Amino acid sequence: MAVRGVGRLTCVSLCAQRNSRFQRPALRPLSCPGTVAADLRREEQPSGSTETGSEDKSSKKRFSEVQKERREQAQRTVLIHCPNKISEKKFLKYLSQHGPINNHFFYESFGLYAVVEFCQKESIHSLQNGTHTPSMVTEAAIPFRSRFFNLKPKNPSNQTSEWSHIQSSNQLPPSSKKLFELLCYAESIDDQLNTLLKEFQLTEENTRLRYLTCSLIEDIAAAYFPGCTVRPFGSSVNTFGKLGCDLDMFLDLDEIGKISTHKNIGNFLMEFQVKNVPSERIATQKILSVIGECLDHFGPGCVGVQKILNARCPLVRFSHQASGFQCDLTTNNRIALKSSELLYMYGALDSRVRALVFSVRCWARAHSLTTSIPGAWITNFSLTVMVIFFLQQRSPPILPTLDSLKILADAGDKCIIEGNNCTFVRDLNKIKPSGNTETLELLLKEFFEYFGNFAFNKNSINIRQGREQNKPDSSPLHIQNPFETSLNISKNVSQSQLQKFVDLARESAWILQEEDKDGPSPSSNQPWGLAALLLPSVANMKPLAKKKNKRPASERIKSLLDSIKSNSTENSTSTNGKRTVSTHT
Ligand code: CTP
Ligand code: MG
Repeated sequence: MAVRGVGRLTCVSLCAQRNSRFQRPALRPLSCPGTVAADLRREEQPSGSTETGSEDKSSKKRFSEVQKERREQAQRTVLIHCPNKISEKKFLKYLSQHGPINNHFFYESFGLYAVVEFCQKESIHSLQNGTHTPSMVTEAAIPFRSRFFNLKPKNPSNQTSEWSHIQSSNQLPPSSKKLFELLCYAESIDDQLNTLLKEFQLTEENTRLRYLTCSLIEDIAAAYFPGCTVRPFGSSVNTFGKLGCDLDMFLDLDEIGKISTHKNIGNFLMEFQVKNVPSERIATQKILSVIGECLDHFGPGCVGVQKILNARCPLVRFSHQASGFQCDLTTNNRIALKSSELLYMYGALDSRVRALVFSVRCWARAHSLTTSIPGAWITNFSLTVMVIFFLQQRSPPILPTLDSLKILADAGDKCIIEGNNCTFVRDLNKIKPSGNTETLELLLKEFFEYFGNFAFNKNSINIRQGREQNKPDSSPLHIQNPFETSLNISKNVSQSQLQKFVDLARESAWILQEEDKDGPSPSSNQPWGLAALLLPSVANMKPLAKKKNKRPASERIKSLLDSIKSNSTENSTSTNGKRTVSTHT
């Protein structure tokens, strides 16, 4: 692992940080008196480890255990819109009259919000009973009693100096400028990848807010379907989520059926009277349509509701204003929940997996290979599967194939969804750690080389078997869905987007190789390693054939450094439009 110096100019701008860096707490400061959050942070941030190699799995919980605990925690939690200035002590005292508080934190999102977790669910009923529906002068309020409240001072003129601005938890990733500074300051490329992971991964507070948002939506859906569950899936729970990523929700109506089966003892079988529709798809569309209406009309904080019911997987998209999350609500999408569990397993098996995925995701975002708008681009999910596949190819492999995880499964792991065999071992302790000790630096370089030279024209990526296979169709990029094996998860990707990915992968492999030979010296003032890879590329604008004429990387690097020095905007967007550095989701 090469150890790099920090360029002189970078050094100057970082001097102040350098001294404080080692005193910086691992997480952003929080207003959080309980010790629970701190304990949870240590326990549940698999990203905390910066070591290379397999992680200690003894403390790793099963996906289902994490989901159950988080869900239960969210059900004891409320969301409160607060005045901008508040006395934290008085606020907690006021709420404590409804029962003991286990944990709380504040965050800002167009106003100050508090997330308060009570020790008991009963406290929420007590709080709701002491809350009134506002009376409007010119408009009418729909009396909806949720767990989302508005707190107002009884007598604003009584506010003393105790009512001050509260320190709030940050819900956003670092700015590009800050990221570049941190990366340039790192000691090695491995250190850079781990730094990026720490800065971008979901914080404990952000994760709590995601589960709470699902729980609030569940309360609304339960008005129609008592006993339903709204579960988060995708990057919010698979450990590959970046701060700012969307919130994928799954409305699970199957649990309702399960409750009734327990009671069916005796000579009779009791069934609910139900309405029938011609197909599962129509049922899904009808359910989502009515939930969409309900969110739109009565859902506190739910805005911009769109019903996208003709998509392959029908969904309701909306913004949850108070949390700032862009939400996608689906139902009848159990396989996606299973693939979230699989990705969670892969992320937990070896600490290098998440570090590599986060860097590749940030690299793709920085080069506009991924966007938040659906289209012909590659998705983060596809990129994650590509990294997993690449890690299955190493010698010895860093990650096992899905087929080998299926062999390790026991009877309790058996899972068939809509005829698809989704069985794999769920106990992490049953999986032998990899003997591979390759560094992140090497893996990053090899990742770009591997996919820069992959025969996309004839081969498909398949993490079930862990080897390249002949493409079954002519889509430019073919990545087999791990559970619905006839589907291609990257069917949407166009040839030109794939070519852009390949060009950038080659260029990035080349930059890392050049650095290896003749790395930037401490006085060269150049961003290096991962920082250099996140710079805008000329390959975006010119075909690869003209690559000889492009400006050398060092020149691009220098101009970025100049832009950082003279940076006037946080996200470094310059006037020519070419030097936009964006690493956000
Ligand atoms: N999914 C899938 N097949 C696809 C697309 C998505 O099975 N073609 C499932 C995956 O489990 C994925 C989840 O749906 O994780 C959510 O999709 P998406 O939001 O696109 O991806 P995320 O993994 O959540 O990544 P991001 O942070 O970009 O939202
Ligand atoms: Mg998502």
